Amino acid sequence: MIPSYANFGGKIHGGILLSLMDKVAYATASKHSGAYCLTVSVDTVDFLQPVEVGELVSLMASVNYVGNSSMIIGIKVISENVKTGLVKHTNTSYFTMVAKGEDDKPTTVPPLKLETKTDIRRFVEAIYRKKFKQEHTAYQKEIKKNRDPEEIKRLLAGERCEVGVLRMI
Ligand SMILES: CC(C)(COP(=O)(O)OP(=O)(O)OC[C@H]1O[C@@H](n2cnc3c(N)ncnc32)[C@H](O)[C@@H]1OP(=O)(O)O)[C@@H](O)C(=O)NCCC(=O)NCCS
Repeated sequence: MIPSYANFGGKIHGGILLSLMDKVAYATASKHSGAYCLTVSVDTVDFLQPVEVGELVSLMASVNYVGNSSMIIGIKVISENVKTGLVKHTNTSYFTMVAKGEDDKPTTVPPLKLETKTDIRRFVEAIYRKKFKQEHTAYQKEIKKNRDPEEIKRLLAGERCEVGVLRMI
């Protein structure tokens, strides 16, 4: 990780890591599908530990699941201090990539060969992750719904905010 990747605090910018992960997801998905792929969704990115300038970042990726045109790529990111040998796990994220055909439409990808217990575990976990994501999507309507002023006041009470203009509510 070179100094120009650092943020104002001297740590590596999260966007640098995200960009690397996106490229690795693309490489993994396009290699499996033999097609041009697009990033559709990322679940989820929590940076567990900061990455320092000078550390060696490695990204490990696998195709965890395939649907029809979509693939879920699991990516584990680690960062190593090459002097001390200390290795930190910075995050694990799951990128959903979709393969596109010559007609620019989603195209069917080859099935996944599950050759080890780990392959099976990852595939099964991806099924659950997809299921939970669908449930999460259903909550979006609840989050976005119009609320009456009394409910808004109740929700804001106790939160660390000041409402400047009461008539906004
Ligand atoms: C990806 C894209 C082509 C999907 O189009 P669509 O009309 O929804 O097509 P489909 O409904 O056939 O979905 C295709 C696949 O994507 C999956 N998919 C679509 N939206 C998804 C989402 N938000 N999360 C996870 N999977 C998703 C579908 O489940 C489907 O999977 P399957 O073929 O394995 O069953 C379209 O959303 C798109 O072009 N998005 C922009 C992607 C992009 O430009 N990325 C670069 C970053 S800007």
